[in-house]
Amino acid sequence: MNLSEYIRNIEDFPKAGVHFKDITPLLANSRAMESCLQQLMDLIGTQKIDKVAAIESRGFFFGTLLAQKLNAGFVPIRKPGKLPYTTLKEPYKLEYGMDALEIHEDAIKKGERVLLHDDVLATGGTARAACNLIENLGGEIVQCNFLIELEFLNGIKKLRNHSVQSLLKY
Ligand code: PRP
Ligand code: MG
Repeated sequence: MNLSEYIRNIEDFPKAGVHFKDITPLLANSRAMESCLQQLMDLIGTQKIDKVAAIESRGFFFGTLLAQKLNAGFVPIRKPGKLPYTTLKEPYKLEYGMDALEIHEDAIKKGERVLLHDDVLATGGTARAACNLIENLGGEIVQCNFLIELEFLNGIKKLRNHSVQSLLKY
C-alpha cells in the first residue's frame, strides 16, 4: 500500500512557510494503519529489540503497536513535568528557543537493545535528545525508526552514529 496517499499536506502550519505533514488520514484508516505498522516492522527486520522508546506525542501512535509486535517493552519519552517518577532530562534546540525531553531513570537497563521511534525526523533535535537519554541510561540504540523523514532539513546528520530508517522521504 502506498502510504503517501494517506498523508495530507497542510501549508503554513503551525506557522507561515512550514509545509506540515498531517498523518491523521492514515490514523483514521485501519487498513492503512495495519500496512504502515507492517512496513515499519519490515525496516527493523529480524533484529532483537528489548525496548521501544517513542517520543511524545505523535511517536506514541505507532510506538506502542511496534512494541507489542516486537514482544518488547514500551518506554515513553515525554515533555517536561509529565513523568511521575525520577527522570533524566535532556534539553534541545527548537527553531526558536529551547525545549526538553524526559525519561524515567529505570526505563532502560544497561545493555538493553532499544528501538527509537517517532513519526517525523525534521531537524533532528528531538531525536538526538531522545538518543542521548537512552544512551545515558546505558541503552544500545539498534535503530532510529521514523514514519516520515524531511530530507531537506538534514536531521540525519544529528544522528550520524546511528542506523536511521524511515518509510516516506520528502
Ligand atoms: C514534531 C514531530 C517530531 C519532531 C521533529 O513533534 O512529531 O517529534 O517535531 O522535529 P525535529 O526533528 O525538528 O526536532 P512536536 O514537537 O511538534 O510535538 P508533537 O509530537 O507532540 O506534535
Ligand atoms: Mg513529536
